[in-house]
Amino acid sequence: MSKHICTRWAFDLSTWRPTLPQLTQAVSAIQPEERVRLMKFHFIDDFLSSLIGRLLMRKFVSTCSGENYHQVQFARDVRGKPYWVQQKAKTTTTALSFNVSHQGKLVVLAGIRGSPTDGEFGIGADVMKIEHNSGKSLTEFFRLMQSKFSTQEWNYICRPQHNERAQLKAFMRHWCLKEAYVKELGVGITVDLQQINFSVDTTHALEEAVSPLCASSLRYNGTPMTQWHFEEHLLTPTYCAAIAFRNCQPEQHAKFEFLRLEQLLEHSSNEKQPELMDYCKQALLKPYKQQ
Ligand code: COA
Ligand code: MG
Repeated sequence: MSKHICTRWAFDLSTWRPTLPQLTQAVSAIQPEERVRLMKFHFIDDFLSSLIGRLLMRKFVSTCSGENYHQVQFARDVRGKPYWVQQKAKTTTTALSFNVSHQGKLVVLAGIRGSPTDGEFGIGADVMKIEHNSGKSLTEFFRLMQSKFSTQEWNYICRPQHNERAQLKAFMRHWCLKEAYVKELGVGITVDLQQINFSVDTTHALEEAVSPLCASSLRYNGTPMTQWHFEEHLLTPTYCAAIAFRNCQPEQHAKFEFLRLEQLLEHSSNEKQPELMDYCKQALLKPYKQQ
């Protein structure tokens, strides 16, 4: 299996309270149908999470392919998974796969770049905050989630040496791995989650210092899925993430790089467009969630 150059970017939304000029510049870089979609969110937090995800995708594709920042085009497949619509013939460009995830204050993108001769490969990513705010006890929360994991996975999550915090962290590690896998496939919730059985890397506890852990493995319906590789990350003490690699492996295992807003906006147009300013004024009226 060939090795690929992997990009891991994260953005911390708590570092950004958008001003009108910044938001206008950011919004100028996304496609009109995405603007329509974003405006439907009730909370500005969701608007911004999704917007940052689009900017990460654009920066990734433009950087890897050399295509002009504003000319990069994305579309969504029938299940909503975004993909890059290449302008040039496939054989003359770089083969790319990427996936975005957002939760709470974090937005992440994992991307991978190969060559057109590599054959089919892909990547999926998921980020989760290690908390459950269902208003229920952990036992009750786990009971509701029973069907999401296999018996072996539950045995690990609820190990006697795990206190409640450790159980929740173990739960979220499995959740991220499963979501990253499902998101690579792009199949949403249509797979039988209990047939997906992860054995998490237990060489170390998942802490920021040792992140990423790379020895987690997957069996599907009892069969080892050897064409898959996984990275498990702890980005902050309370946010974990996983990346699923299908038919590819990263050249190097590395941590997520936190980007600043300026790095996301460096290629976007700063032109004053009155209709975009009106759109952004309207967006800035949306309420923030109570944290
Ligand atoms: N496949 C992969 N990626 C997709 C996708 C799909 N079908 N549809 C959208 N995406 C991308 C988009 O970039 C999207 O961002 P956007 O909403 O701003 O456009 C991003 O992934 C969303 O990912 P994430 O933030 O991780 O959202 P999610 O975890 O709420 O949802 C889904 C992920 C929608 C793709 C889908 O996997 C889902 O419904 N998951 C929940 C199902 C479940 O029960 N999982 C249990 C796992 S244990
Ligand atoms: Mg998710």
